[in-house]
Amino acid sequence: MIKLSPSILASNMLHLENELKIFTKMNVPYIHIDIMDGLFVPNFSFGTAAVQSLRKATDLVLDVHLMVYDPIKNIKIFCESGADIISFHFEATNNPNKAIDYIKRYGKKACITINPSTMEEAVFPYLDRVDQVLVMGVIPGFGGQGLIPSTLKKLSNLRNYIDKNNYNVDIEIDGGILPENVRSVLDAGANVIVGGSSIYKGYRLEENIKVLYDIFREYEKDESGSHL
Ligand code: DX5
Ligand code: ZN
Repeated sequence: MIKLSPSILASNMLHLENELKIFTKMNVPYIHIDIMDGLFVPNFSFGTAAVQSLRKATDLVLDVHLMVYDPIKNIKIFCESGADIISFHFEATNNPNKAIDYIKRYGKKACITINPSTMEEAVFPYLDRVDQVLVMGVIPGFGGQGLIPSTLKKLSNLRNYIDKNNYNVDIEIDGGILPENVRSVLDAGANVIVGGSSIYKGYRLEENIKVLYDIFREYEKDESGSHL
């Protein structure tokens, strides 16, 4: 099943409560929350207070993307703040297994993330232990960038490896996803779609989500047909 994860990095903070209502009404399953430390990426965004407030306000799955160095130090506070999925960057730690152990110790879903410059093979050894792998389609830190074309090959290599080994791992794509290219990332094997600018464009959230849902529906229809 294809899942949409709107990235509130693009949100209007003053209207977040109303945005949450729209996501709930539209049956959006995940909310993508970007955490930046100003070091791993040259920007700042949300912290634990934001995750805590969102946790109080919604039952939707909080998909927390840690763009921070030394994620192991920070996993506990984000788990306790109410995250459901914790994504850490492969590049930000020298001990991915320990990061996965920590996330699981708190009963949360573990996701390993790779930057555009990291080869997908680097995370193959961890795919039997995680719930999700996140592939960055852009250099992390900012919304509104264009999808890097080599991401597609990366997604399909991951999809093949996951399917070949019968792993139950979602593939999330983050960065540069638009209605014009979402089909190509689905074709390549992604099944969790992060949308920042595509969802907030013109601040027409409902309409933009509908556009993406129509594409998902169409894709799933074609997919089920192709197996007949
Ligand atoms: C970028 C963030 C993304 C960002 C995506 O570093 O991780 O979640 O919000 O924004 P778009 O969809 O605009 O590329
Ligand atoms: Zn993100």
